[in-house]
Amino acid sequence: MPRAVYQFPRGFLWGTATAAHQVEGRNTNNNWYAWEQQEGRIRNGDRSGLACDWWGGRWKEDLDRAVETGQNAHRLSIEWSRIQPTPDHWDEDALDHYREILQGMTDRGLTPMVTLHHFTDPLWLMELGGWENPDVVGLFDRFVARSVDALQAYANLWVTINEPNVYYHAGYVAGGFPPGKHNLQSAVLVAQHMIRAHAAAYHTIHKIQPTARVGFALHYRRFLARRTWSPLDRAVRWMADAFMNRMFLDTLLTGRMNVFGRFTRIPEARNTQDFIGLNYYTTSLTAFDLRAAGNAFLRESYPREALLSETGFLANVPEGFFHALNWLRKIGKPIIVTENGVEDPSDRMRPQYLVEHIHQLWRAVNAAWQIKGYFHWSLVDNFEWERGWSQRFGLWGLDPATQKRFRRTSVDLYAAICHENALSWDTVHQYAPQVLSRLFPE
Ligand code: FCB
Repeated sequence: MPRAVYQFPRGFLWGTATAAHQVEGRNTNNNWYAWEQQEGRIRNGDRSGLACDWWGGRWKEDLDRAVETGQNAHRLSIEWSRIQPTPDHWDEDALDHYREILQGMTDRGLTPMVTLHHFTDPLWLMELGGWENPDVVGLFDRFVARSVDALQAYANLWVTINEPNVYYHAGYVAGGFPPGKHNLQSAVLVAQHMIRAHAAAYHTIHKIQPTARVGFALHYRRFLARRTWSPLDRAVRWMADAFMNRMFLDTLLTGRMNVFGRFTRIPEARNTQDFIGLNYYTTSLTAFDLRAAGNAFLRESYPREALLSETGFLANVPEGFFHALNWLRKIGKPIIVTENGVEDPSDRMRPQYLVEHIHQLWRAVNAAWQIKGYFHWSLVDNFEWERGWSQRFGLWGLDPATQKRFRRTSVDLYAAICHENALSWDTVHQYAPQVLSRLFPE
């Protein structure tokens, strides 16, 4: 058996991704904090609380862990409600804190990628109507200008908005995120404002920092019709794909927002991506279901043969990752995988998930598609939004009560990949032997 090595290009970014509210702790001035206080909103009544205590300083030890295991980049987000706690007050201490963290990354040899909006909004913004109010475009732009001006010496890779499609779907259609609405029209309005806000931020960042590389992070979920022969299953598949995967991105490509045949011109959004950020987790099957009227008659399930994660939240479908990369590369911009990972407290599934996804990534890189980096979600277990602490995505485990970290086997697996800048036969043999013959056929 040849001991092949799937090599990645020199300078490839290997990192993990985190988000402010999920790791910082003690964020009490945003909509998620308020949401956590409401009964029944978060699984098991969990709260973010101290989270991973990054605001208390534990970012240092966690970034040390990242470095020790061969990572050369990290993606984090900054918290709007800390930097601008009220509309007319900017908190220089908060900005200093982020400067310190970003400097800490550079000192450790980690290339920083900074997300400006990762799901959370200041309470004062929500009181103004949040992302449904058109003023949000200018308000977000002011926040971006102030933050990028303050942090430009420390970072030049920016993600404007993380998963706008999840934000407007979960907050305004499915209702699991604040503000918990079920209103398609509001969702479309929010999407439109997010497109305008992204475009404004793109131009503002470039004005402040001409060398900046700016994109947004798309949550791409592959959809397949459950019964391929069924026109109804195919129709809901098309709708889900259009609404979740295509609407935001297409508007940035064409300058026209197409909502099921109704067009809005947003010319300033055209060509506002220096790279495409891809968050890929899974692939679902779509079925038309009369009982799912609240979800546009769409019922989702997972392919029967796919391995499911601990709580059934994700299915392991690595081919969907390759499919996403193949779709996005046609746009002709560099791609950065801004998230990919699986919840798995026992670490039984993660090694297989990881090697199979890295293998698909390598196939894409080997075809000379412009893929610049991979950020695994996540470094340490953290607060998983409406699923609270019930899902564990960390390479390192965390007991949030004691703040004790523990090393999962996947730490060493990912370290081998990062150190070698490759996925090798030996690594797969050691950590996921069950897929060895699939990944390295004789
Ligand atoms: C993504 C989010 C991220 C994390 C992962 C598991 O949708 O961007 O914050 O919750 O899912």
